[in-house]
Order: sequence, then structure tokens, then C-alpha cells
Amino acid sequence: MSTYGTFPGARPRRLRTTPAMRRMVAETRLHPAELILPAFVREGIGEPVPISAMPGVVQHTRDTLRKAAVEAREAGVAGIMLFGVPEDDKKDAAGTAGTDPDGILQVAIRDVKAEVGDELVIMSDLCLDEYTDHGHCGVLDSEGRVDNDATLERYAEMAQVQADAGVHVVGPSGMMDGQVGVIRDALDQTGHEDVSVLAYTAKYASAFYGPFREAVGSSLQGDRKTYQQDPANVRESLRELSLDLAEGADMVMVKPALPYLDILAKVAESVDVPVAAYQISGEYAMVEAAAANGWIDRDRAIMETLTGIKRAGANMILTYWATEVARQL
Ligand code: PBG
Repeated sequence: MSTYGTFPGARPRRLRTTPAMRRMVAETRLHPAELILPAFVREGIGEPVPISAMPGVVQHTRDTLRKAAVEAREAGVAGIMLFGVPEDDKKDAAGTAGTDPDGILQVAIRDVKAEVGDELVIMSDLCLDEYTDHGHCGVLDSEGRVDNDATLERYAEMAQVQADAGVHVVGPSGMMDGQVGVIRDALDQTGHEDVSVLAYTAKYASAFYGPFREAVGSSLQGDRKTYQQDPANVRESLRELSLDLAEGADMVMVKPALPYLDILAKVAESVDVPVAAYQISGEYAMVEAAAANGWIDRDRAIMETLTGIKRAGANMILTYWATEVARQL
């Protein structure tokens, strides 16, 4: 590189001079086909219920969920991840509503399937916390601890009912050891060899899940630190990754997204399966809250977070802004 007197010989700013120039040299581009919309559907409501900690996101009725699915498809979104919210009196210690063929999630899967068929990838949260009265992702033993292997049996049943309802992809989010393998077996043994498993591979015990509790009407007793990962750890994620792949994960996910971009980058460079990242409720809430106060430019902040997640290595991004962003792209 030459220099002329005190002036720089290399001028990176040349490639930033016009919008057309910047667009041409952009290394990362977002596309609607990599966005997945997480959506909540609540049993027994006549109107959608706003989630106060997630302005713009609602608990859908069965009817508005169908509409949201159609809108997502029309915007070119890749898929929809469904979360069921049962009526309060249907929550119990075992999370029975999660395995009821007529439970809200199963009904919602059938609704969305009837509406959009295979034109959206239909995914479902495979976890018990939406259905348990104690709010944990599994069943408890006599001392109140989350019982790993008893929970796996419940997950196997959930996999079957969700697959029977027509889901394309199940997303086990409970962080029980062995969950991917047990779910894969359950699917294969019930004739659902074609249903994929999106493994929540690196799922951290995060403060940013806060608004999700309101979204699924869950009041958690205690915390999830005995099953979700410690935010301090990296190698633990790589271990979880090896296990999930060995157990048959078709795709892997890192969650939350923004505070864990280093994990996402490491996972993305070490696998040969698609990698997803979940921009979670608290990440959404932070941007919306700051924007509502006039502290940041909402639209730019949304695009910047999504671009950062993609740049770090995500092939797919779950984001509550999926439909809105897809329309802009
Ligand atoms: C567990 C589950 C959670 C989320 C997705 N699946 C909550 C948790 O692990 O505590 C969080 C999603 C979000 O915060 O947007 N069923």
C-alpha cells in the first residue's frame, strides 16, 4: 500500500459513497425465505389478546392465527413456529394438555395446515412449560426437581400428537438430556419418519425470556438453571451440539440470538446441518421499548439486529418481526 505524504493510499470510504455502491458490496443480505414467525395461540378466547411486554404481538385466537399464517405466507416467510396457550384450568403437574390430541397446539397445527398446507413450514414448540401448572419444562420428581427421563416419556408422546396433527418440524426446547434421540425414535416408530427435528442445541438460561412468560401465561416457580445452559459457557454448547447431531437433529438452533453471536458463529462453522437462531421475546421487547421512547430508530435497529444474526452464521432466524420485515425486503 502506498501513501502520499500524510494522505492515505487506501480509502475504504470509496466503497461507501452511494447507496448503490454500498448495496453492491454488501456481504450479508436478508431474505424472507430464511425468516420464521413464532406465534402464540390461546384456547378459549374470542378476540386476540395483546401481550403488554411485546407491543405488536398477540395471543391469537384460532381464527386470527390462520390469518397470521396466510399473511406470513404472502410475505414470503419461510415458516411459522407455533406455541399453544391452554386454558388456565387445563394446566396440571404433568402438562396433560400438551399430549391431548385436541389440545390447543394440536388443534392449531391442524388449522394452519388446513389453511396453508405445505406452503409454509409448520413448526411446533415441543415442551411442557406451556401446559404445566408449575411452569417447568418437564415433570417434577417427589423432591420437586425436573425429572429428566420421566420428561422424555412425555416428550415422546408430544412428538407423536404434534406429528399426527400434521406438523413438519418439531422444536424440542426443554433442554432435557437425550430429548432429540427419544423424539426421533418416537417419530420413526409412529410412521413420522419425514417429520424433522429442529434441536434447541444451545439454549441458555436467559433473563431475556421474560416477556415469553406473559405470552404463554406461565408463572414459573424457581428458575431453569438446572436444565438450560449457563451464559458463561461456550464449550458446553459444542458438547450439546455433538450430542444433538449424534441423536439425529436435522437442524440446530442457538437461543437467544444477540447476546450469543459468538456461540452462533462457532456452531455455524462446525456443522453441516442448517443453523437457526431465535431472536427471543426480550430481544424484541428491548428494541420496541427503546423505540417507543424515541431512543432508537426502530426500523434500522430491527434490520441491524437481523443482519448481525445472519452475519454471525444463521441460515434461519426466528423473529417476531418476520412478516413485517419480509414485506420490506
Ligand atoms: C420453552 C420456550 C421458551 C421460549 C421458547 N420455548 C421459554 C423458556 O425456555 O423459558 C422463549 C421464547 C422467547 O422468549 O421468545 N417452551
